[in-house]
Amino acid sequence: NVLILDFGSQYTQLIARRVRELNIFCEIKPYNNLPEDLSEYKAVILSGSPFSVRAEDAPHPDLSQIKGKKPLLAVCYGAQYLAHFKGGKVAPSSTREYGRAKLSFIDHNEPFFSGISEGSQVWMSHSDTISELPTGGIKLASTHDVENAAYKIDGEETYAIQFHPEVYHTTDGKQLLENFLVHIAGVAQTWTPDSFVETTVAELKRKIGNEKVILGLSGGVDSTVAAVLLHKAIGPHLHCIFVNNGLLRKNEYQAVLDQYHGMGLNVKGVDASARFLDNLEGESDPETKRKTIGRVFVEVFDDESHKVDDAQWLAQGTIYPDVIESVSATGGPSATIKSHHNVGGLPDYMKLKVVEPLRMLFKDEVRRVGASLGIDKELLGRHPFPGPGLAIRILGDITREKVAILQEVDAIFINGLKEWGLYDKVWQAGAILLPVNSVGVMGDERTYEKCVALRAVESTDGMTADWVNLPYEFLQKTSNDIINKVRGVNRVVYDISSKPPATIEWE
Ligand code: XMP
Repeated sequence: NVLILDFGSQYTQLIARRVRELNIFCEIKPYNNLPEDLSEYKAVILSGSPFSVRAEDAPHPDLSQIKGKKPLLAVCYGAQYLAHFKGGKVAPSSTREYGRAKLSFIDHNEPFFSGISEGSQVWMSHSDTISELPTGGIKLASTHDVENAAYKIDGEETYAIQFHPEVYHTTDGKQLLENFLVHIAGVAQTWTPDSFVETTVAELKRKIGNEKVILGLSGGVDSTVAAVLLHKAIGPHLHCIFVNNGLLRKNEYQAVLDQYHGMGLNVKGVDASARFLDNLEGESDPETKRKTIGRVFVEVFDDESHKVDDAQWLAQGTIYPDVIESVSATGGPSATIKSHHNVGGLPDYMKLKVVEPLRMLFKDEVRRVGASLGIDKELLGRHPFPGPGLAIRILGDITREKVAILQEVDAIFINGLKEWGLYDKVWQAGAILLPVNSVGVMGDERTYEKCVALRAVESTDGMTADWVNLPYEFLQKTSNDIINKVRGVNRVVYDISSKPPATIEWE
């Protein structure tokens, strides 16, 4: 197990993902909440930070239990922190040090740089520079602009680098992490999807025994993988509930339910479309729509869960990014842009114990675990779909007629992406029904009908996104199909906005 101490860098989760890619388990902890017992950690990595070490309010944790006692890799801010407080000097850089640089000098006697040569590209992002190494510091690498791009401390397994090994643009970053973790710290590479499945299933069996577990399936990757893991552990004691809120994609409710049954899951489908749509009637405010859907979901789910006698547990598909304690650079809570109702856990009145088999996994790991469990590739590769579904893609109020129109449009778009081999190149795609009518001509008739927008984005986590450059021929064919086949739509537009500033969903 490896500990990553977070100083608030935007790249901290990326460090963890790179370490996991080496089949090494790691955990992120905030710098101001260092675990008391460090004995289980074989190595420690210090992250970067938006702070300058010279600032008074910058993170200044006590590392006396770590430095010199365990293999330590300090990245960017971490490297400056070690220099600043241990006899070295950190000063503002005279040139801006952002972006690509090349290693111009490497100490090849060091196993830290084994397999890496001069000229290797690294990614810099800092405005301070280490002008003097700390006591015992030995320079290991330089770039053209940064003299002390890497150093170690004599007699210790302490290594420090000014650049970011975790970002894709540092070409040999993964090699460097492997050199440090595997060859220097001697950490075993045993964190694999198969070993995760084996230990998790055993753990779930031990924890749950013969008690009953309820789980809400959404059709998405996380809840599905959680269900299959639990099914493997406790079989028919797992009771899954799959709710149709009437705002899913075309035919999705039945298709997904059939698929779940085919996987042998004990799942009950609950078609509550009418209840959701009745409650949403006349509602056009995005946040109220979300809250209404969240509330009705809780009501329906609660009704259904009462039908399972003596349930003791509620299982959730929570994943690691939802549980990492974050370090906020501003100290304050970040603004709520959209209330994502499905992050927030169980309602108080359901007094069940919670089990979250995926809480230590990143999304890409959930997919790999799913594959190792033999879950259908198509299901694992599905685009994310928001909990409130089409409700937040119908701008303005929601009617059954509008849902039906949008389902048709969405199906043409998504099936088209699949047929053209574009689906897997896109992170998320969907159609939006606009509250706009525009004039058209069809045959000799003047029409005054609805307009739909298509959105397809590339992203890694939904936090930032860019629109996808879909082929014109594809857009042309899709637009024709939609206008010819879906009654009530006479205009199609393609959304070419990036996030930020535009969000992925329009509401
Ligand atoms: P935005 O629109 O904020 O979306 O750029 C980022 C990601 O979050 C999804 N999203 C939601 N998911 N409930 C959800 O479960 C919601 O209320 C919600 N709003 C947005 C969106 O689909 C995208 O993947």
